[in-house]
Amino acid sequence: MACQGFKNIPYSWHEQIIDLLAERIVVVDREGNILYINEAYCEFLGTTVEKALNEPVYEVIENSRMHIVAKTGKKELAAVQPINGSEMIANRYPLYENGEIVGALGTVMFRNPEEWRMYKSKIQRLVEELRYYKTKVQSEYKSKHDFSHLIGNSPLFVAAKKLAERVSESASYILIIGESGTGKELFAHSIHNNSDRSGMPFVAVNCASIPEHLLESELFGYEEGAFTGAKKGGKKGLFEIANNGTLFLDEIGDMPIAMQSKLLRVLQEREIHRVGGQKSIAVDVRIIAATHRDLDKMVAEGHFRQDLYYRLNVIKIEIPPLRKRKEDIELIAMNLLKKLEGRFFRKGIELSQEVKGKLTQHSWPGNIRELENVLERSINVLDGQVIELDHLPLYLREQESPHHDEKKKSKTSNIMPDFSTIPVQPLKETLAAVEKQAIENALAFTKGNKLEAAKYLEMSKTSFYEKCKLYNL
Ligand SMILES: Nc1ncnc2c1ncn2[C@@H]1O[C@H](COP(=O)(O)OP(=O)(O)O)[C@@H](O)[C@H]1O
Ligand SMILES: [Mg+2]
Repeated sequence: MACQGFKNIPYSWHEQIIDLLAERIVVVDREGNILYINEAYCEFLGTTVEKALNEPVYEVIENSRMHIVAKTGKKELAAVQPINGSEMIANRYPLYENGEIVGALGTVMFRNPEEWRMYKSKIQRLVEELRYYKTKVQSEYKSKHDFSHLIGNSPLFVAAKKLAERVSESASYILIIGESGTGKELFAHSIHNNSDRSGMPFVAVNCASIPEHLLESELFGYEEGAFTGAKKGGKKGLFEIANNGTLFLDEIGDMPIAMQSKLLRVLQEREIHRVGGQKSIAVDVRIIAATHRDLDKMVAEGHFRQDLYYRLNVIKIEIPPLRKRKEDIELIAMNLLKKLEGRFFRKGIELSQEVKGKLTQHSWPGNIRELENVLERSINVLDGQVIELDHLPLYLREQESPHHDEKKKSKTSNIMPDFSTIPVQPLKETLAAVEKQAIENALAFTKGNKLEAAKYLEMSKTSFYEKCKLYNL
């Protein structure tokens, strides 16, 4: 069967073809006598084909081992063979017929060390280039976190983490919802790292930070000449870079509506078109999208495409804000401190009891990112080992705790506004105005969280909701 194709080649071509395949060739029989040797080899050896044929190979070629390979059947690759005071690199293969050794074929890979060095240095450069790009890709497009970095024991958080872990192996799209600083990006990294795509690129793109007119070419790339200023040879888009890996579309809620349509098409067809390009390029990318926005509301208001929402929202992971997992705050703070200690070359930093209390009470609108900033600031102003209230930023120190004690109450009255200008009007109206303002302030402080605002005001949930209704809040 193997000869089938060769039969079509005219016999008179055989020698030419063989000579072109390798510059120097020799074939010996089982005994090591030369059956074939080409002219180039003979020229180099200072002999002729006629003289060399049928001679024992070790008498024609210095240091030859062809007769040995023809006996042992063990091939020798890239063997250094000194001839005429210089060294060649040779390959020697046994030849078989019906499973029996019948002879051997020898070829010269490099005629001299110079040739080898040139070749090697070229390959070496390529290898180095390859290594450079490999590490570059690994550092730029590699996810850096796994689930062990996700700290927290509260039930809500553990549930989110478990779900993420469970679905990481599947190829389904994932939508991560959570306020800013809750760890959406960390989750995305961990999911990728836990998936069978972990060896492939993890590419993160923040849809809110790329100008609208650049987003398309960033995501899908462009062809040469697609627009003025387009790079020669065009450019790969992030979809192509993320091929076989994961594309993290952060702040998807901020993607312009026109772009949403283009994205939807790509997700449906699983292929992209570069800007200014005709051909379609197939891509296999797992999408993890994230946003702090209320996508349901955006869909209802027509700011987010419903069909895109459905497509992305195959698995929804909701990360709770810090104030909904107060029991985790101290644990996370201690973990962040360990990280910061390393960065600041400090050791053994602790939190005072009061600070722990304060950190737990705070509502953390910026979540873990805010906590990180607060701790970093505290370490910056810290001389000793223990972070005290004084080391906390002013806005945290001055914030009232929901459980007022006597001392704090008197402090509160100290910062009461000046009431001497209250207009003379029915008392009911004044009290209502103050009440309304107090509720508004509380809501602003809790970023609209009514339950929490009620707690700060020490009101029951029901009466708080009643007041909100009354004042149209
Ligand atoms: N569960 C967690 N445990 C420890 N650190 C976390 C956790 N979640 C987030 N972080 C840290 O908080 C910061 C904000 O996280 P990030 O993933 O960027 O939040 P988001 O994308 O939701 O804004 C990062 O520095 C991250 O390392
Ligand atoms: Mg983020």
